[in-house]
Parts: sequence; structure tokens; C-alpha cells
Amino acid sequence: MPQLFAVAYHQCRWNYRDDEDVAQVDSKFDEHDIPYDVLWLDIEHTDGKRYFTWDRMLFPHPEEMQRKLAAKGRHMVTIVDPHIKRDDSYFVHREATEKGYYVKDANGNDYDGWCWSGSSSYPDMLRPEVRSWWAEKFSTENYVGSTPSLYIWNDMNEPSVFNGPEVTMPRDAIHQGDAEHRELHNVYGYYFHMATAEGLVKRGDGRDRPFVLSRAVFAGSQRHGAIWTGDNSADWDHLRVSVPMILSLGLTGISFSGADVGGFFGNPEPELLVRWYQLGAYYPFFRGHAHHDTKRREPWLFGEKNTERMREAIRIRYMLLPYFYTLFREANTTGVPVARPLWMEFPSEEATFTNDEAFMIGNSLLVQGIYTEHAKRASVYLPGKESWYDLKTGTAYKGGKTHKLDVNEEGVPAFQRAGTIIPRKDRFRRSSTQMVNDPYTLVIALNSSQAAEGELYVDDGRSFEFQQGSYIHRRFVFADGKLTSLNLAPGHTQFSSECVIERIILQGLSTGQKSALVEPANQKAEIERGPLLLYSRQGPTVLTIRKPNVRIADNWVIKIF
Ligand code: GLC
Repeated sequence: MPQLFAVAYHQCRWNYRDDEDVAQVDSKFDEHDIPYDVLWLDIEHTDGKRYFTWDRMLFPHPEEMQRKLAAKGRHMVTIVDPHIKRDDSYFVHREATEKGYYVKDANGNDYDGWCWSGSSSYPDMLRPEVRSWWAEKFSTENYVGSTPSLYIWNDMNEPSVFNGPEVTMPRDAIHQGDAEHRELHNVYGYYFHMATAEGLVKRGDGRDRPFVLSRAVFAGSQRHGAIWTGDNSADWDHLRVSVPMILSLGLTGISFSGADVGGFFGNPEPELLVRWYQLGAYYPFFRGHAHHDTKRREPWLFGEKNTERMREAIRIRYMLLPYFYTLFREANTTGVPVARPLWMEFPSEEATFTNDEAFMIGNSLLVQGIYTEHAKRASVYLPGKESWYDLKTGTAYKGGKTHKLDVNEEGVPAFQRAGTIIPRKDRFRRSSTQMVNDPYTLVIALNSSQAAEGELYVDDGRSFEFQQGSYIHRRFVFADGKLTSLNLAPGHTQFSSECVIERIILQGLSTGQKSALVEPANQKAEIERGPLLLYSRQGPTVLTIRKPNVRIADNWVIKIF
């Protein structure tokens, strides 16, 4: 289960140059009213690619830099790769050599390969004692310049060796128990990821959940953190292919994945960048990243109109965070992925089997990417017998058919399935952390029986206490003109929240109800009719219950009549 912040937007680049650059990027997000949660530092932040160190010319005060971000509820991620620079003055290399922790070559010497750090060796992550030693490196005492708001990125852990055969370790390199690399290659990166995640858990006395992004992956990697699809390019085909890649990963149990938004290599045209944000906002892991030879591409660098579009895409993600977090809980307990191919939700509809341009987020939201330049129209197949409601306008479309829709650069098509309820938080803040006490909006899309259902999962967003039952889990059911909040976690009273629902939007209501009554308080709530008005000036009329102010932690019923 990820921490809440990790489900929000991440800003990365190879490289943010120095602490002034970091401060500037951070403040530009605020200046442009764009939320973000995590600022990332790539390999250049280190002293000569010696991980766990800082280039002190560029980053003289790393703790202070992290504290400034943390004061706004933001986090930092630094990169830690497995190639250890063979330099006797580097403490990690010295210790690994003395303890005999490196993978050996066929002659029994410490294997020496070339990577970012030049001549390097690789700790044998298959050995439990090596993993414990590695994990210790993440304590705030050992990782000088780190603070509790710092999290980690593991890269090149396949492992990558620039001068190795097949750009990895030779097959006859030796691991523990005389096992050859050929037998273990695919799990090396998995164990490296595991050891790093364990390090972050140990660091905080086991309080906070770790966050570690890994490039190498194996069955089970979902237990250790997020993964991304590696070095893509800023071209339209790579945008398109990101969806089947993420869906396939999800089907293998690895829900928390994403692709570099914007494309790693090359300079995206503004239109491609915008489209990538619009799609990437629905990736389970949402991070902008770029190669160091590319031009800067933070969301405010392409003119006001494009800034607005990227802001809107990122804000939609923040609005949907309660829904995403609830889906991550579902993935955590059942393995069902957050991002799903259409056929998972509609297994009897053959028309969905080959469609990987559209996908579902949970069971309630269908997203259609736009993968071509200057697109004016998109064909969108909406499955099932029930209708779908455009996320922004509330316009209803019939299920079971392909719609030819007009599209513009303002967003990619996204629809809520009739019969579902999506929890949102609509007030915009600087980061997810600052939204914790904000009230919720429930968006109800009624089906043809005038019914709908949805869930909300909430915990402290950080610790492991949810494993002891410290959480709120509700099911909202709308039927017979009544919205009921049911407790899916009875007896779990350790975690509480004062958060209330400030707005309930009903789409597809067939009758003209005029009043809402909240029970058991027996209080009337205001009702309003009008368009949805979510980044859109027009649309069909929806009914909004204003300020019912019921607590998410409580049982209640709201009747409309
Ligand atoms: C690899 C990673 C990329 C990173 C670069 C430098 O190419 O995949 O994301 O920026 O190394 O660390």
C-alpha cells in the first residue's frame, strides 16, 4: 500500500542542477497554481556517482532543502543505483570489499563492470546479510544529508553494466552458494528493490511505509514499491504503447506503474507533452521525467494556454486522489489492478478484447488516450448496457457502441460508468498532504434503475497502522431515492477523521426531486440544479446536494424527494 503522497504527481528531470534550481522549480509550481508532491534528484546530485553522498558544491545544505519542501507537505526522492564506485575512499565500496559482499567474477575476484560511476562492483543482493547491510545505509545517520521526508529511486538494477555482455553481468558471474548469474539474473533487481524498501522501513522505526521506484522488476515487486517502464522517447507511438505496457504490468500484479510523462529521450512538441499529461494523470504512477540532453519542459514553459492544460490534467489527478487511493487499497488486498483493460470489466464483450487505447481506472472510470497530432475526432467504444457520463460536461453516452466524438486540446475523453459513485476532493492545494482535512465530493452516476454504488477507503496515508485495522472503509449505495453510507470495516474504530462530504452530485436523475433530508440528524440540505461546470461551460443539468456535511466516518442516509 503506497503512502498517499506517492499516488500524487512527481516532478523529475535528469537533473535538477542545484539547490537553487530545486527552490525555483518548487516555487514555480506554486506561482502557477499547479499541485505536485515530490521533487526528484537524478545521478548528478551525488559526489561523482557515489550514492548516499551529495555534490556539496551544488547541494551544500540537503537537509535544509528537504525541510523547505516538507514545510509545504512535499517530499524529495534521490536516486541510489546498485553499481558501487570502486574507490577506496568511498565508504560503501570499502565496507563491501572488506566484508566480501560483492558479486564475484568467474575467477573469484570482485566483479568489475562499467556504469555511471565508472569502474564499479555490485553487492550480492541475493544474500540476506548483504540486504541487511544495504538497508542500514538508509538510516538518517548513515545517509548523511537525508531526512525522513526523503525517499528513493532504484535504477540500473537489472543490473545494467555498460561494458558487460548483453549490457549486464556475464552469465558466469558468481553469487552466493556458487550460483551463476545466469540462474538469478531476473531476481537481482527485485532483491535490490526489496533491500532498499526495507532500509526505508527500518529508518523510521517501522512507522512510515517506504516509497522506492525501481526499473527492474520480477513477480512480487509490487510489495516493494512502484516501477516505471524505462527509457521511452518523446514520440506519439511511445505515448500509445505506454497504455498496454501499464495494463500488462497490472495484470501481473504490479499495479503501481507508470511511464515517463513527456517521453525520456527527445523534446516533445507542446501538443505531445500536453497529451502526455492528460493521459499520464491516469497512470497509477504519475511522474514527469526527461533526459539531461533535453530542453527544460516544466509545465509552465510552453505558453499560458498549454500551462492551463497541464494544470488542469494534474488537478484532475488530485481531485481523483481519494478514488485512486481506494483502488490502491483494493489492489493491496485482492491484487486487482488499479488500471484495467476494458475486458476485465466487460469480459463478455468481444469488442473490448483488442482495445488497448482505452482503459478503466477501477470499475468506474474509462479513459481514452489521444495518440495523434491535431486530433479533431476520436472513436471511443463505450462497453456495457448502461450509459457513460463525460467527466467534465456530464453529457451521457449510450453503452455498447462506438461514439465518434469531437475532441479538442483541452483534455482526453474520460467517462464515469452509470451505476457508480466516485469520491473526490475538489479543493486545490499545493500538495496531497495539504488536502488531508479537505471535505469530499461524491459524484453519483445513476444507472437505468436509478441506482449506483461506490467505495471510499481512507487511512492515515503514511503508516502501517492500517494493517491493524486503522482505517475507514465505506460503501455508498444509492437506491430508491436514498444514499446510504455503509461501514465495510465495522469494529475498526482506531482511525478517525473529521472529514465531511461537502457536495453530492447526482447525474442521470429522472425525476424532479426538490429536497434532501439527512438522517439520523433529520436536517434538510440544500439542493441545486445546474450544469456540472468542471472545466466546462456547458452540459446537462445535474442535481447537487450542497453541504450535507455528513462525516465520512459515520453511518447516515440522505433521502431526496
Ligand atoms: C537511466 C534511467 C533514467 C535516468 C538515467 C540517469 O537511463 O532509466 O530514468 O534518468 O538512467 O540516472
